[in-house]
Amino acid sequence: MIKIIYGKCAHCASVNAANVITDLLKSKPDAVLGLATGSSPIGMYKELIARCEKGEISFKNVKSVNLDEYVGLAADHDQSYAYFMSHNLFNHVDIDKANTNLPNGLAADPAAECRRYDGVVASMGGVDVQVLGIGNNGHIGFNEPATYFSKGTGLVDLTDSTIDANARFFEKREDVPTQALSMGVGQIMNADKILLIALGKGKAEILEKSLFGDVTPEVPASILQFFKGEVVVCADEEALSVILEKHPEAVTK
Ligand code: GLP
Repeated sequence: MIKIIYGKCAHCASVNAANVITDLLKSKPDAVLGLATGSSPIGMYKELIARCEKGEISFKNVKSVNLDEYVGLAADHDQSYAYFMSHNLFNHVDIDKANTNLPNGLAADPAAECRRYDGVVASMGGVDVQVLGIGNNGHIGFNEPATYFSKGTGLVDLTDSTIDANARFFEKREDVPTQALSMGVGQIMNADKILLIALGKGKAEILEKSLFGDVTPEVPASILQFFKGEVVVCADEEALSVILEKHPEAVTK
């Protein structure tokens, strides 16, 4: 079941998303979180940091697994996802860093690293809420449009459109890694709940196509239509603009 929650602005959508995590942490303080990077979850992380500072929530007993990491970037590289997570969440809340996990982008043997990460994810005994952004081409994690849905963690070649989209974070386009290690679509679908965050006009078309179009690996996020549990979509008015036009009844205001 897909629940689309309307947020007037990006901040409102981020607060809506933070509410989903807050509810989980209040009912299950030792929850397992599946975490995402990109600009979409930053506002939610800020909100969660503020709530943690106020003592409303705690990450003390939380474990986390992140979706993906660039190949070739060390954890202290300012564009690595390990760095992103430290700076946008982990350094500011009471989480035990030993309980946080990301694939190692510098692993000498990426295939072995993928198998190790599959083991890490399996050892969590299930992800309670998996946070997702959505790529301009419908990718989730770094699972790019393909002819099949990936099952486990894999080494992926990034598409030109993803490299273009992510070039804004790097000095030069040539600096953007061309490969990543990403949790597979199958692993994402194993979570108990999905929290998809989409912000801005650029996501409006792909969000509608993913949630209402054909289910196809060419639009990886479309598989969420077959998710067994609840998919909560927290989006702002801009990202929802096409859905509001075509399927207004599907949006909870
Ligand atoms: C990256 C990440 C995705 C993210 C996507 C969208 O490619 N691997 O997990 O969802 O970008 O990013 P943004 O939220 O900045 O639009």
